[in-house]
Amino acid sequence: MEITGSIRYIGVNDHDIDLFEGQYTVPNGMSYNSYVILDERTAVMDTVDARFGEQWLKNLEAALDGKKPDYLVVHHMEPDHSSNIAVFAKRYPEAKIAASAKAFAMMKQFFGTDFADRQVVLVEGSELELGEHTLRFIAAPMVHWPEVMMSYDAKDRTLFSADAFGKFGALDADEDWACEARRYYFGIVGKYGAQVQAVLKKATSLDIGRICPLHGPILSEDIGRYIGLYTTWSGYEPEDEGVFIAYTSVYGNTAGAARLLAEKLEARGVRVSCADLARSDMAEAVEDAFRYNRLVLATTTYNADIFPFMREFLSSLTERGYRSRTVGIIENGSWAPMAARIIKKTLEGSKDIAFTDTVVTIRSALDAESEAQLEALAAELTR
Ligand code: FEO
Repeated sequence: MEITGSIRYIGVNDHDIDLFEGQYTVPNGMSYNSYVILDERTAVMDTVDARFGEQWLKNLEAALDGKKPDYLVVHHMEPDHSSNIAVFAKRYPEAKIAASAKAFAMMKQFFGTDFADRQVVLVEGSELELGEHTLRFIAAPMVHWPEVMMSYDAKDRTLFSADAFGKFGALDADEDWACEARRYYFGIVGKYGAQVQAVLKKATSLDIGRICPLHGPILSEDIGRYIGLYTTWSGYEPEDEGVFIAYTSVYGNTAGAARLLAEKLEARGVRVSCADLARSDMAEAVEDAFRYNRLVLATTTYNADIFPFMREFLSSLTERGYRSRTVGIIENGSWAPMAARIIKKTLEGSKDIAFTDTVVTIRSALDAESEAQLEALAAELTR
Protein backbone atom coordinates (compact mmCIF):
# COMPACT_ATOMS: atom_id res chain seq x y z
CA MET A 1 0.00 0.00 0.00
CA GLU A 2 1.43 3.36 -1.04
CA ILE A 3 1.32 6.09 1.60
CA THR A 4 3.42 8.64 -0.25
CA GLY A 5 5.57 8.38 -3.40
CA SER A 6 8.28 6.74 -1.31
CA ILE A 7 6.64 5.42 1.87
CA ARG A 8 4.90 2.03 1.69
CA TYR A 9 2.76 0.21 4.26
CA ILE A 10 3.84 -3.41 4.79
CA GLY A 11 2.01 -4.26 8.03
CA VAL A 12 -0.51 -7.01 8.76
CA ASN A 13 -3.99 -7.45 10.24
CA ASP A 14 -4.53 -9.96 13.05
CA HIS A 15 -8.05 -11.35 13.36
CA ASP A 16 -6.99 -14.48 15.27
CA ILE A 17 -5.86 -12.84 18.49
CA ASP A 18 -7.96 -13.50 21.60
CA LEU A 19 -6.35 -11.06 24.06
CA PHE A 20 -3.96 -8.30 23.00
CA GLU A 21 -0.99 -8.08 25.36
CA GLY A 22 -2.54 -11.00 27.23
CA GLN A 23 -5.43 -8.96 28.63
CA TYR A 24 -7.33 -6.67 26.23
CA THR A 25 -10.24 -8.02 24.21
CA VAL A 26 -10.02 -6.81 20.62
CA PRO A 27 -13.27 -7.76 18.89
CA ASN A 28 -12.11 -6.20 15.64
CA GLY A 29 -8.59 -7.61 15.78
CA MET A 30 -5.36 -5.68 15.74
CA SER A 31 -2.97 -4.31 13.16
CA TYR A 32 0.80 -4.46 13.48
CA ASN A 33 2.08 -1.69 11.28
CA SER A 34 5.39 -1.62 9.47
CA TYR A 35 6.61 0.71 6.76
CA VAL A 36 9.33 1.02 4.13
CA ILE A 37 10.93 4.24 2.92
CA LEU A 38 12.28 3.80 -0.59
CA ASP A 39 15.09 6.24 -1.30
CA GLU A 40 18.78 6.05 -2.28
CA ARG A 41 19.03 3.98 0.87
CA THR A 42 16.04 1.94 1.96
CA ALA A 43 14.77 1.86 5.52
CA VAL A 44 12.33 -0.68 6.95
CA MET A 45 10.43 0.63 9.94
CA ASP A 46 9.84 -2.06 12.58
CA THR A 47 8.67 -5.64 12.12
CA VAL A 48 5.43 -7.35 13.20
CA ASP A 49 4.13 -9.96 15.64
CA ALA A 50 5.82 -13.39 15.54
CA ARG A 51 2.81 -15.11 13.99
CA PHE A 52 2.91 -12.93 10.88
CA GLY A 53 6.59 -13.11 9.89
CA GLU A 54 6.03 -14.82 6.56
CA GLN A 55 3.26 -12.50 5.47
CA TRP A 56 5.32 -9.48 6.52
CA LEU A 57 8.40 -10.67 4.59
CA LYS A 58 6.19 -11.14 1.52
CA ASN A 59 4.84 -7.60 1.91
CA LEU A 60 8.38 -6.32 2.40
CA GLU A 61 9.74 -8.07 -0.66
CA ALA A 62 6.88 -6.79 -2.80
CA ALA A 63 7.59 -3.22 -1.64
CA LEU A 64 11.35 -3.60 -2.16
CA ASP A 65 10.76 -4.86 -5.70
CA GLY A 66 14.22 -6.39 -5.94
CA LYS A 67 16.05 -3.77 -3.85
CA LYS A 68 17.92 -4.68 -0.68
CA PRO A 69 17.12 -2.86 2.54
CA ASP A 70 19.92 -0.79 4.05
CA TYR A 71 18.40 -0.28 7.50
CA LEU A 72 15.91 -1.80 9.88
CA VAL A 73 14.74 1.01 12.16
CA VAL A 74 13.49 -0.29 15.50
CA HIS A 75 11.26 2.22 17.27
CA HIS A 76 9.96 -0.16 19.95
CA MET A 77 11.04 -3.54 21.29
CA GLU A 78 7.72 -4.92 22.50
CA PRO A 79 7.31 -8.29 20.71
CA ASP A 80 4.23 -7.23 18.73
CA HIS A 81 6.71 -5.14 16.70
CA SER A 82 10.12 -6.65 17.31
CA SER A 83 9.55 -10.41 17.00
CA ASN A 84 10.87 -10.61 13.45
CA ILE A 85 14.11 -8.65 13.95
CA ALA A 86 16.26 -11.82 14.01
CA VAL A 87 14.38 -13.17 10.96
CA PHE A 88 15.07 -9.90 9.12
CA ALA A 89 18.73 -9.86 10.19
CA LYS A 90 19.22 -13.37 8.85
CA ARG A 91 17.41 -12.67 5.58
CA TYR A 92 19.30 -9.40 4.94
CA PRO A 93 22.80 -9.85 6.43
CA GLU A 94 24.09 -6.58 4.98
CA ALA A 95 21.39 -4.37 6.47
CA LYS A 96 22.22 -2.29 9.54
CA ILE A 97 19.92 -2.06 12.54
CA ALA A 98 19.13 1.40 13.90
CA ALA A 99 17.80 1.57 17.47
CA SER A 100 18.40 3.11 20.88
CA ALA A 101 21.04 1.58 23.19
CA LYS A 102 18.26 0.32 25.45
CA ALA A 103 16.62 -1.39 22.47
CA PHE A 104 19.89 -3.17 21.63
CA ALA A 105 20.12 -4.38 25.24
CA MET A 106 16.59 -5.80 24.86
CA MET A 107 17.55 -7.49 21.56
CA LYS A 108 20.23 -9.36 23.49
CA GLN A 109 17.56 -10.44 25.99
CA PHE A 110 15.08 -11.53 23.33
CA PHE A 111 17.42 -12.96 20.67
CA GLY A 112 20.68 -13.71 22.48
CA THR A 113 22.52 -11.16 20.32
CA ASP A 114 22.56 -7.38 20.06
CA PHE A 115 23.85 -7.47 16.46
CA ALA A 116 27.01 -5.65 17.64
CA ASP A 117 28.64 -5.41 14.18
CA ARG A 118 25.50 -3.98 12.58
CA GLN A 119 24.38 -1.35 15.06
CA VAL A 120 23.48 2.26 14.39
CA VAL A 121 22.87 3.58 17.90
CA LEU A 122 20.23 6.32 18.05
CA VAL A 123 19.90 9.08 20.62
CA GLU A 124 17.65 12.14 20.81
CA GLY A 125 18.32 14.21 17.68
CA SER A 126 20.14 11.46 15.73
CA GLU A 127 19.65 11.64 11.99
CA LEU A 128 19.57 8.85 9.47
CA GLU A 129 20.12 10.10 5.93
CA LEU A 130 18.43 8.04 3.28
CA GLY A 131 18.80 10.42 0.31
CA GLU A 132 15.91 12.82 -0.12
CA HIS A 133 14.55 11.67 3.22
CA THR A 134 16.33 12.19 6.51
CA LEU A 135 14.86 10.60 9.61
CA ARG A 136 15.30 12.66 12.76
CA PHE A 137 14.86 10.75 16.01
CA ILE A 138 12.93 11.77 19.09
CA ALA A 139 13.37 9.84 22.33
CA ALA A 140 9.98 8.81 23.72
CA PRO A 141 10.78 6.90 26.91
CA MET A 142 7.78 5.14 28.50
CA VAL A 143 5.56 5.72 25.50
CA HIS A 144 5.25 2.87 25.98
CA TRP A 145 8.53 1.19 27.05
CA PRO A 146 11.79 2.89 28.09
CA GLU A 147 13.67 2.26 24.83
CA VAL A 148 11.10 3.87 22.52
CA MET A 149 12.13 6.31 19.79
CA MET A 150 9.89 8.12 17.34
CA SER A 151 11.18 9.49 14.05
CA TYR A 152 10.21 12.38 11.82
CA ASP A 153 10.67 12.67 8.08
CA ALA A 154 10.55 16.35 7.10
CA LYS A 155 10.34 15.60 3.38
CA ASP A 156 6.95 13.88 3.67
CA ARG A 157 6.00 15.68 6.95
CA THR A 158 5.53 12.25 8.51
CA LEU A 159 5.85 11.28 12.16
CA PHE A 160 6.52 7.60 12.88
CA SER A 161 5.00 7.65 16.33
CA ALA A 162 5.58 4.10 17.65
CA ASP A 163 2.63 3.03 19.89
CA ALA A 164 1.38 6.61 20.31
CA PHE A 165 -1.75 7.46 18.30
CA GLY A 166 -2.43 3.74 17.86
CA LYS A 167 -5.72 1.97 18.48
CA PHE A 168 -7.22 -1.45 18.91
CA GLY A 169 -8.79 -2.90 15.77
CA ALA A 170 -7.40 -4.18 12.48
CA LEU A 171 -7.13 -1.75 9.57
CA ASP A 172 -10.14 -3.31 7.85
CA ALA A 173 -12.37 -2.63 10.90
CA ASP A 174 -14.98 0.00 10.18
CA GLU A 175 -15.19 1.77 13.53
CA ASP A 176 -14.79 5.11 15.25
CA TRP A 177 -11.14 6.04 15.86
CA ALA A 178 -11.53 7.80 19.19
CA CYS A 179 -13.43 5.02 20.98
CA GLU A 180 -10.83 2.31 20.46
CA ALA A 181 -7.88 4.73 20.55
CA ARG A 182 -9.05 6.00 23.95
CA ARG A 183 -9.48 2.48 25.35
CA TYR A 184 -6.03 1.61 23.97
CA TYR A 185 -4.43 4.79 25.36
CA PHE A 186 -5.76 4.45 28.92
CA GLY A 187 -5.17 0.72 28.98
CA ILE A 188 -1.64 0.74 27.68
CA VAL A 189 -0.05 4.16 28.12
CA GLY A 190 -2.38 5.80 30.64
CA LYS A 191 0.08 5.59 33.52
CA TYR A 192 2.67 7.60 31.60
CA GLY A 193 0.85 10.88 31.03
CA ALA A 194 3.86 13.02 31.99
CA GLN A 195 6.08 11.20 29.48
CA VAL A 196 3.44 11.54 26.75
CA GLN A 197 3.20 15.27 27.49
CA ALA A 198 7.00 15.58 27.21
CA VAL A 199 6.93 14.03 23.73
CA LEU A 200 3.95 16.15 22.65
CA LYS A 201 5.94 19.22 23.68
CA LYS A 202 8.80 18.16 21.41
CA ALA A 203 6.31 17.49 18.60
CA THR A 204 4.98 21.06 18.67
CA SER A 205 8.07 22.21 16.74
CA LEU A 206 7.36 19.73 13.92
CA ASP A 207 5.22 20.35 10.87
CA ILE A 208 3.23 17.10 10.98
CA GLY A 209 1.09 16.25 7.97
CA ARG A 210 0.80 12.54 8.67
CA ILE A 211 1.16 10.18 11.64
CA CYS A 212 2.23 6.59 11.01
CA PRO A 213 1.67 4.67 14.27
CA LEU A 214 2.49 1.03 14.98
CA HIS A 215 -1.21 0.14 15.37
CA GLY A 216 -4.34 1.42 13.69
CA PRO A 217 -4.84 3.70 10.72
CA ILE A 218 -2.41 6.19 9.28
CA LEU A 219 -3.66 9.62 10.29
CA SER A 220 -3.40 12.20 7.56
CA GLU A 221 -6.26 14.65 8.12
CA ASP A 222 -7.16 16.85 11.03
CA ILE A 223 -3.88 16.05 12.83
CA GLY A 224 -4.66 18.78 15.36
CA ARG A 225 -7.68 16.81 16.59
CA TYR A 226 -5.58 13.73 17.38
CA ILE A 227 -2.88 15.78 19.07
CA GLY A 228 -5.58 17.63 21.01
CA LEU A 229 -7.08 14.36 22.26
CA TYR A 230 -3.65 13.08 23.30
CA THR A 231 -3.02 16.36 25.12
CA THR A 232 -6.33 15.96 27.02
CA TRP A 233 -5.79 12.30 27.83
CA SER A 234 -2.15 12.61 28.90
CA GLY A 235 -3.02 15.69 30.98
CA TYR A 236 -5.65 13.62 32.86
CA GLU A 237 -8.24 16.20 31.84
CA PRO A 238 -11.81 15.00 31.34
CA GLU A 239 -12.76 14.85 27.69
CA ASP A 240 -16.53 15.13 28.20
CA GLU A 241 -18.95 16.45 30.80
CA GLY A 242 -20.91 13.56 32.22
CA VAL A 243 -21.24 10.92 34.93
CA PHE A 244 -19.86 7.42 34.67
CA ILE A 245 -21.58 5.03 37.08
CA ALA A 246 -19.51 1.90 37.77
CA TYR A 247 -21.28 -0.70 39.88
CA THR A 248 -21.10 -4.22 41.17
CA SER A 249 -24.11 -6.04 42.51
CA VAL A 250 -24.67 -9.47 44.06
CA TYR A 251 -28.47 -9.79 44.05
CA GLY A 252 -29.48 -6.75 42.03
CA ASN A 253 -30.18 -4.20 44.77
CA THR A 254 -27.03 -2.15 44.18
CA ALA A 255 -27.58 -2.43 40.42
CA GLY A 256 -31.12 -1.12 40.93
CA ALA A 257 -29.80 1.87 42.87
CA ALA A 258 -27.21 2.57 40.14
CA ARG A 259 -29.91 2.48 37.47
CA LEU A 260 -32.22 4.70 39.50
CA LEU A 261 -29.40 7.24 39.90
CA ALA A 262 -28.79 7.10 36.14
CA GLU A 263 -32.50 7.82 35.53
CA LYS A 264 -32.48 10.73 37.95
CA LEU A 265 -29.38 12.23 36.32
CA GLU A 266 -30.69 11.76 32.79
CA ALA A 267 -33.97 13.40 33.82
CA ARG A 268 -31.85 16.40 34.82
CA GLY A 269 -30.18 16.44 31.39
CA VAL A 270 -26.87 14.93 32.52
CA ARG A 271 -25.02 12.62 30.14
CA VAL A 272 -24.62 9.21 31.83
CA SER A 273 -22.69 6.06 31.07
CA CYS A 274 -23.23 3.02 33.28
CA ALA A 275 -21.35 -0.30 33.59
CA ASP A 276 -21.76 -3.49 35.60
CA LEU A 277 -18.08 -4.16 36.30
CA ALA A 278 -18.58 -7.92 36.56
CA ARG A 279 -20.06 -8.11 33.07
CA SER A 280 -18.35 -5.28 31.20
CA ASP A 281 -14.96 -4.97 29.60
CA MET A 282 -12.71 -3.56 32.34
CA ALA A 283 -10.64 -1.53 29.84
CA GLU A 284 -13.84 0.09 28.56
CA ALA A 285 -14.81 0.98 32.14
CA VAL A 286 -11.36 2.48 32.76
CA GLU A 287 -11.71 4.47 29.54
CA ASP A 288 -15.08 5.88 30.64
CA ALA A 289 -13.77 6.79 34.09
CA PHE A 290 -11.11 8.96 32.46
CA ARG A 291 -13.43 10.25 29.75
CA TYR A 292 -16.03 11.89 32.03
CA ASN A 293 -15.54 14.47 34.75
CA ARG A 294 -17.70 12.72 37.37
CA LEU A 295 -17.63 9.13 38.62
CA VAL A 296 -20.01 7.20 40.86
CA LEU A 297 -18.84 3.97 42.47
CA ALA A 298 -21.63 1.67 43.65
CA THR A 299 -20.66 -1.51 45.42
CA THR A 300 -21.30 -3.95 48.21
CA THR A 301 -19.20 -4.64 51.25
CA TYR A 302 -17.67 -8.06 50.76
CA ASN A 303 -15.34 -10.06 53.02
CA ALA A 304 -14.75 -6.88 55.05
CA ASP A 305 -13.61 -5.22 51.81
CA ILE A 306 -15.32 -4.24 48.57
CA PHE A 307 -16.63 -6.52 45.86
CA PRO A 308 -13.73 -8.02 43.84
CA PHE A 309 -14.54 -6.40 40.48
CA MET A 310 -14.72 -2.97 42.15
CA ARG A 311 -11.37 -3.65 43.81
CA GLU A 312 -9.85 -4.49 40.42
CA PHE A 313 -11.42 -1.42 38.83
CA LEU A 314 -10.06 0.91 41.50
CA SER A 315 -6.59 -0.64 41.16
CA SER A 316 -6.77 -0.08 37.41
CA LEU A 317 -7.57 3.59 38.02
CA THR A 318 -5.01 4.31 40.74
CA GLU A 319 -2.15 2.59 38.89
CA ARG A 320 -2.91 4.85 35.92
CA GLY A 321 -2.81 8.03 37.95
CA TYR A 322 -6.57 8.69 38.10
CA ARG A 323 -7.11 12.25 39.34
CA SER A 324 -8.99 15.53 39.09
CA ARG A 325 -12.52 14.14 39.15
CA THR A 326 -15.63 14.36 41.35
CA VAL A 327 -16.47 11.00 42.90
CA GLY A 328 -19.75 9.89 44.49
CA ILE A 329 -20.29 6.64 46.37
CA ILE A 330 -23.21 4.25 46.82
CA GLU A 331 -22.44 1.53 49.35
CA ASN A 332 -24.53 -1.48 50.24
CA GLY A 333 -24.15 -3.80 53.23
CA SER A 334 -26.64 -6.02 54.99
CA TRP A 335 -24.91 -5.98 58.36
CA ALA A 336 -21.82 -3.74 58.33
CA PRO A 337 -21.51 -1.48 55.27
CA MET A 338 -17.93 -0.24 54.98
CA ALA A 339 -17.48 0.14 51.22
CA ALA A 340 -17.48 3.96 51.31
CA ARG A 341 -14.67 4.07 53.85
CA ILE A 342 -12.63 1.54 51.87
CA ILE A 343 -13.16 3.39 48.57
CA LYS A 344 -12.08 6.70 50.12
CA LYS A 345 -8.99 5.05 51.59
CA THR A 346 -8.14 3.44 48.23
CA LEU A 347 -8.33 6.80 46.47
CA GLU A 348 -6.59 8.82 49.18
CA GLY A 349 -3.30 8.90 47.18
CA SER A 350 -5.06 10.09 44.01
CA LYS A 351 -4.63 13.80 43.30
CA ASP A 352 -7.51 16.28 43.27
CA ILE A 353 -10.35 13.86 43.94
CA ALA A 354 -13.39 15.69 45.31
CA PHE A 355 -15.85 13.36 47.01
CA THR A 356 -19.48 14.41 47.01
CA ASP A 357 -20.89 15.35 50.42
CA THR A 358 -23.60 12.74 49.95
CA VAL A 359 -22.77 9.08 50.43
CA VAL A 360 -25.68 6.74 49.72
CA THR A 361 -25.81 3.92 52.25
CA ILE A 362 -28.14 1.06 51.43
CA ARG A 363 -28.85 -1.64 53.97
CA SER A 364 -29.78 -4.61 51.76
CA ALA A 365 -32.34 -2.78 49.60
CA LEU A 366 -33.35 0.80 48.85
CA ASP A 367 -35.75 2.35 51.35
CA ALA A 368 -37.13 5.85 51.81
CA GLU A 369 -33.95 7.07 53.55
CA SER A 370 -31.50 5.73 50.96
CA GLU A 371 -33.75 6.89 48.11
CA ALA A 372 -33.61 10.40 49.56
CA GLN A 373 -29.82 10.13 49.66
CA LEU A 374 -29.87 9.02 46.02
CA GLU A 375 -31.92 12.10 45.17
CA ALA A 376 -29.44 14.29 47.04
CA LEU A 377 -26.52 12.64 45.21
CA ALA A 378 -28.22 13.26 41.85
CA ALA A 379 -28.72 16.91 42.78
CA GLU A 380 -25.10 17.27 43.88
CA LEU A 381 -23.80 15.69 40.65
CA THR A 382 -25.96 18.03 38.57
CA ARG A 383 -24.59 21.26 39.98
FE1 FEO B 1 2.43 -2.14 20.30
FE2 FEO B 1 4.01 -1.37 23.20
O1 FEO B 1 3.65 -2.38 21.67
